Amino acid sequence: MGPTVGARMARSGTVFVCSSCGAEAPRWLGQCPGCGEWNTLVEEIAAPVVTARRGGGGGARPGAPRRLRDVETPAVPRLSTGLKEFDRVLGGGLVPGSLVLLGGSPGIGKSTLTGMALGNLAGAGHRTLYVSGEESAAQVRLRASRLPGAALDVPILPETDLDTVLATIVAERPEAVVIDSVQTLHASELTGAPGSVGQVREVANRIARVAKEGGAAVILVGHVTKEGALAGPRVLEHLVDCVLQFEGERERTYRTLRALKNRFGSTSEAGVFEMRQGGLVEVQDASARFVSEATRAPGSVVLAAMEGSRPLLVEVQALVSPSELVPPRRVANGIDRNRLALVLAVLARHAGVGVGSADVFVNVAGGVRVDEPGADLAVALAVASAARGVVAGAGERPVACFGEVGLTGELRSVAHPERRLAEAAKFGLSPTIAPVGAGRGASEAPTLRAALKAALASERARARAA
Ligand code: TYD
Ligand code: MG
Repeated sequence: MGPTVGARMARSGTVFVCSSCGAEAPRWLGQCPGCGEWNTLVEEIAAPVVTARRGGGGGARPGAPRRLRDVETPAVPRLSTGLKEFDRVLGGGLVPGSLVLLGGSPGIGKSTLTGMALGNLAGAGHRTLYVSGEESAAQVRLRASRLPGAALDVPILPETDLDTVLATIVAERPEAVVIDSVQTLHASELTGAPGSVGQVREVANRIARVAKEGGAAVILVGHVTKEGALAGPRVLEHLVDCVLQFEGERERTYRTLRALKNRFGSTSEAGVFEMRQGGLVEVQDASARFVSEATRAPGSVVLAAMEGSRPLLVEVQALVSPSELVPPRRVANGIDRNRLALVLAVLARHAGVGVGSADVFVNVAGGVRVDEPGADLAVALAVASAARGVVAGAGERPVACFGEVGLTGELRSVAHPERRLAEAAKFGLSPTIAPVGAGRGASEAPTLRAALKAALASERARARAA
């Protein structure tokens, strides 16, 4: 054991490199001597010194560039995880030799998802390996015994030492490996604690190399911080082939899996799961689920959203309640807080719905997150409906809508209006209130004011008649 005083000195063979400007220092410093940034120095294993040669490349032989059209594009083989939604988000399954980073907050179901995937792969006769740095073998077994399929056939290695893990991968030659989590592994060459930027980067780099050589598909599980950034693994995003985000609310059962980066597929795919007693269940027809759960009460509307390339109907709920608080509360679940603030301002300024002295709560039912401007109109209609105490739409069916709200009170078009309209029509939610130009099946509204009239008028007319 070295003296603890020297813990921040680089060991022989390592240097501290600024992650901002690349300057090197022999020991850790709070401020980079190169660019003056704070807390940017990260320990790295020193690269062997390459002496620069004079002239254009010295004695090296020139490479042979080829025209792109002459480059073969071999079909990428895929390993199916046995979970359709997972495979779809991956772009058709796991790619051998690739590295997938799966991020999500604790308790969201990352270990369950990866455990099920490995179980299905093992059941299909593939060699698998589950490396657990977080839970004991017994804990992982307990979870696996709740899961369907061959989850109990997956070999487990409870280990946090990187060298041991790499040696095991080389010896066992698995086709699919899960590292749960990348923040718990530890490279003994580096002084940093497990989970520190230097450690996480080194761990991922070395695993990537071994995976490429052995052709294994590796899923690195990573925790995210409260702010939603992958803690440490943020620095991994450029290093891995695919970054997936598993999200939802812990207390709710719905989970969405999204690709933020994918070298082997599209990033617009998303999968919906439900956490049940026996693990995660894929929700193939999420719209049906959410529409049937929608309430017919003031403050509820259905949003025709897009989850990647798939349309998804979700219920947006609002509660507006008088408040003594200054400023009053603005609570948003499942939508961006700033979008809510914008929508409230436009409602007050251009549509005559002021909620300045009331608490406003907006919630996307089921714990789903919708991060798209198309949600604006649903938020606006739900808030207006709640503020006026009037049910949106007429009859038994809830009202469906989509559209971006502009700062001058206009409704702006958003992507894929035809898919959204078709999905709403499938559930009898026509006409759908939408921006001008949306197409057949839409009740087109040029402004937020016009949309409010369309959504809330019929009920008011009825109230007046009564
Ligand atoms: P877990 O996969 O351990 O989450 P993570 O690895 O992302 O931290 O699972 C989290 C929760 O899921 C846990 O609270 C228990 C619950 N769960 C179920 O409801 N059903 C199940 O079949 C399993 C395995 C877990
Ligand atoms: Mg876990």
